[in-house]
Amino acid sequence: MKNIILVGFMGSGKTSIGREIANVTGLKYVDIDDMIVKEAKMPIKSIFAKRGEDGFRDIEKRVVIKAAKMKNVVIATGGGVVKIPDNVRTLRKSGNVVYLKTGFDTIVDRIKGRDDRPLFDMNNIKGTRKLYTDRLPVYRKSAHITVITDKNSVKQVAKKIIDRTGL
Ligand code: S3P
Repeated sequence: MKNIILVGFMGSGKTSIGREIANVTGLKYVDIDDMIVKEAKMPIKSIFAKRGEDGFRDIEKRVVIKAAKMKNVVIATGGGVVKIPDNVRTLRKSGNVVYLKTGFDTIVDRIKGRDDRPLFDMNNIKGTRKLYTDRLPVYRKSAHITVITDKNSVKQVAKKIIDRTGL
């Protein structure tokens, strides 16, 4: 059985959809952000504050290599994992990379009121929208499959992914 790797912008549902796929298929759920927090022994916000984005990406890259070696897993990545081409190569070798495509307005609705994402700035929505727009083509190119999540429930999206990846 091939691994499934979920990529997409913050708030695209990687965690909840990943957990649902794991429940239905018996694959093990693996979360790159959780592994990073464990390895750094501090929350993501603190990693960014202490080591900057570059420091965060260094840990992320190491964790991606570790996760990609696992078998029979569904991996939820962080939204910026595709910034590093090596990560994309590593993840594509590990399994089916699925892009969870979600409209920016849906994302804002899901994320507003939370402050655990250093790169999602509600006070600079123009800048956040630019980050979103810049990343769209990178997600598309990184993934084997694109699935639209807006207006679909977690269960519906998970089912679509399971059907399309032939699990
Ligand atoms: C990031 C997304 C976050 C987390 C970090 C950086 C990004 O993960 O990895 O804050 O660069 O888009 P989620 O996509 O799970 O929020």
